[in-house]
Amino acid sequence: MPPSEDRSATPEQSVLRHLIRAATAILTEAQVPSAESDAISLAEHVLGIDRLVLVMPPPLPEEFTADYAAVVERRRRREPLQHITGRAHFRHLALQVRPGVFIPRPETEVVAEHAVSAAHAVRRAGRDPLVVDLCCGAGPIAVSVASEVPGSSVLAVDAEGAAVDLTLANAAAARVRIRAMVADVRQEDLLADHEGQVDVLVANPPYIPPDAVPQQREVREHDPDLALYGGGPDGLDIPRAVIRAAARLLRPSGVFIMEHAEVQAGAVREVVSDTGGFTEVSTAEDLSGRARMVLARRR
Ligand SMILES: C[S@@+](CC[C@H](N)C(=O)[O-])C[C@H]1O[C@@H](n2cnc3c(N)ncnc32)[C@H](O)[C@@H]1O
Repeated sequence: MPPSEDRSATPEQSVLRHLIRAATAILTEAQVPSAESDAISLAEHVLGIDRLVLVMPPPLPEEFTADYAAVVERRRRREPLQHITGRAHFRHLALQVRPGVFIPRPETEVVAEHAVSAAHAVRRAGRDPLVVDLCCGAGPIAVSVASEVPGSSVLAVDAEGAAVDLTLANAAAARVRIRAMVADVRQEDLLADHEGQVDVLVANPPYIPPDAVPQQREVREHDPDLALYGGGPDGLDIPRAVIRAAARLLRPSGVFIMEHAEVQAGAVREVVSDTGGFTEVSTAEDLSGRARMVLARRR
């Protein structure tokens, strides 16, 4: 209902509704996916609140209209919402994100879920699990496991120093301790001190093939190439290195979980099986029912 028709609305409600409606129109015109939800999130960000209840809006600061217009314009230019707000929600966490480090995605929440339940199973068996997250980015998986599985010891690795710093910052914000280090998963001696000792090895590595440039501008223009492209003609060079590391680091019966693209499910299962080191090799689905991760158990 337009503000003028809503006789019971306070001036603040009317102004806010009007501005959010106008922002939604601007973002829709710019083909921003989920324009209305982004318009609301941006208003929450400018107001410094977690959740905007339109029937009970907070007082609008004098500079609200100008500040809101500025962030809407950034989003109109397809800057990712998470870069503007500095936050990405992942499971129960509000993670800090920043340009130069991959933005955590909802589909990876299921990858983290498998890692959390595998770590819980180790706890039920009477041990504190050692969990390794390779290609940790901002740390969504590592920090989820550390905060959801008491007693777990989590070690996170990324080739980018900025990602490792952010993982440690996110762990500190979630009040959990994890270890994180800069290293290349292709190093044959990666984490050599932990060979055959790891209970759960989880990864969301880069896996996009070179000819599959992402359509979404937010991804193409703002996620670092190192985080997107897996290398080799099939995009699986880095995932193959992760699989080799998993075969070397996992203890017998240890669990391996790795995200991949939907079209790579069969190829990834084959690479995992061909190592000869795993049983129970299977594919699991993400929240929208797409085949998006491999699961396997070390022999
Ligand atoms: C798709 S992002 C995923 C980040 C995080 N796991 C997540 O789910 O949000 C892939 C990550 O792999 C890292 N990476 C790329 N190549 C690597 C390599 N050779 N060794 C270690 N990390 C690498 C990138 O820096 C990036 O942070």
